[in-house]
Amino acid sequence: MTIHYKDLGLVNTKVMLQMAIEGGYAVPAYNFNNMEQLQAVIRGCVETDSPVILQISRGARKYANQTMLRYMAMGAVQMMKEMGGDIPIVVHLDHGDTYEVCVDCIQNGFSSVMIDGSHLPYEENIALTQRVVEYAHQFEVSVEGELGVLAGIEEDIAAEHSSYTQPDEVEDFTKRTDVDSLAISIGTSHGAYKFKVKPGEEPPPLHFDILEEVEKRLPGFPIVLHGASSVVPEYIEMINRYGGHMEGAVGVSEDQLRRAARSAVCKINIDSDCRLAITAAVRRVLAENPGEFDPRKYLGPGRDELTKLVRHKNEVVLGSAGHGREIMAAVRK
Ligand code: G3H
Ligand code: 13P
Ligand code: ZN
Repeated sequence: MTIHYKDLGLVNTKVMLQMAIEGGYAVPAYNFNNMEQLQAVIRGCVETDSPVILQISRGARKYANQTMLRYMAMGAVQMMKEMGGDIPIVVHLDHGDTYEVCVDCIQNGFSSVMIDGSHLPYEENIALTQRVVEYAHQFEVSVEGELGVLAGIEEDIAAEHSSYTQPDEVEDFTKRTDVDSLAISIGTSHGAYKFKVKPGEEPPPLHFDILEEVEKRLPGFPIVLHGASSVVPEYIEMINRYGGHMEGAVGVSEDQLRRAARSAVCKINIDSDCRLAITAAVRRVLAENPGEFDPRKYLGPGRDELTKLVRHKNEVVLGSAGHGREIMAAVRK
């Protein structure tokens, strides 16, 4: 064991996800790859007193460097305290695909990992997830599993068509693997092009019928929603206005997410919206100031836009605002 997450000032997801289910809200899980994204997420969450899950994908690990990420997580905890905050921060591996990558993250201070065996045959998914849980639980690290495949791109795995979670499998899967939370497929997908809709048409609703069946079989069990960006129309409009081409980009409506957050869905994953916020602001600054070449002058506004988005998500979509301190108090007990 190289470094334990508690030594970095992090927490696992156990208490926060349980409190979120009981409180009828969802904890935001924001992906980050660089300093500006991390600062914006921490700022937005401290300013709204929200718990937060900082997600790192395998791609992010490659991009930012494993050691750098560990110190960034420590920096995030320190910055949170200096801002006068007292919110729980989880560092989570998003879409871990092997036992080895999960072990490596746990040894490097992650407090939660996802083992995504959703593309494997059912019994192989169980066997892989069991192995990760057995290792992770020795160190009180939380584990998220997945049943059902999201349409779109799950990292390198292209899933042309989704296969929704089968409620008949969830009890057996969670019992046999002992996972702490379960990601399910109910019609969302990753990225900025989630649904094919004609202009003026509403995207199809999520499969709340499947979610309800899952809840019946697993009362009080933490459920995770991936692919939950709204693909904020204002950002798409701004990107297109300032030289981008993102026609047809569409996401999950805020109403659908509010409804999910009131259910057993207690962790909602958001990456694309964070990317869009920064890109929209950067494009605007560069289009309006073609001579600008100081990264602080365009990344700064990108960071400000993302901070605004995080506050909005926490306050009016996920409902996590105002719950940070109370979760920390419960964790300390
Ligand atoms: O689920 C996928 C996340 O949006 C991470 O994407 O692999 O490009 O970092 P990434
Ligand atoms: P979005 O692409 O909808 O932001 O989903 C992110 C995600 O699920 C990360 O695991
Ligand atoms: Zn995902």
